[in-house]
Amino acid sequence: MNEKMESRILPEESIYGADLPEMERILHVLESRVEALREKYRDNDSDPVEHCLGRIKSEQSIREKCRLRGLPETKASALQELHDAIGLRVVCAFLNDVYMMRDYILGFDDIELIQEKDYIKRAKPNGYRSLHLIVRVEGRYLAEIQLRTISMDTWAALEHHMKYKKQVSGNTELLVEELKRCADELASTDLSMQTLRDMIRAEQPL
Ligand code: GTP
Ligand code: MG
Repeated sequence: MNEKMESRILPEESIYGADLPEMERILHVLESRVEALREKYRDNDSDPVEHCLGRIKSEQSIREKCRLRGLPETKASALQELHDAIGLRVVCAFLNDVYMMRDYILGFDDIELIQEKDYIKRAKPNGYRSLHLIVRVEGRYLAEIQLRTISMDTWAALEHHMKYKKQVSGNTELLVEELKRCADELASTDLSMQTLRDMIRAEQPL
């Protein structure tokens, strides 16, 4: 998700070929929908989203992923075999907002849920948490939507950083263990923050 778009690549050279503008449009549609919901909630100061990040997977990353998976570096691989050429990450303040956002996104008629991975209910062994939706948009383009809280996002960013810092010297086992412990602590903090918000809301007049 961290790759920047490479604007120097001409459509005829891009793995996405002539589909690139359509993919960008689809991404924009997804982003606009999130923005529209935020706008609605901003009116009463309860924007559920902390930030939202969309990207088309860079030429280099998608080709690398094809190679890693043993797939030919073609548009068919990029758009049909892989599912994250179009990616959206929605970072929410509270846990409940993550699921509210999920329902909102899946509520659109042109969105079809292909796969859902709830790494919040069932965290990965390393502690990674997020809700992943693979969706088909307008009957054609696959997109990966990652929904998570600020805590989960912070952890994922740190873990990503450490993973790619390669050759972490010293006690790797301890590092992995500590990272997992941090993830679990953050998850418990997310629950407490949610409870706090619910208490505050319950005290507010409607
Ligand atoms: P890829 O990991 O993308 O090849 O696909 P997958 O089929 O394994 O899907 P999965 O849902 O496991 O992961 C998709 C994306 O979620 C990744 O590309 C990352 O952006 C993110 N992700 C998954 N696991 C981790 C993790 O352990 N740490 C971090 N930082 N990000 C993760
Ligand atoms: Mg993976």
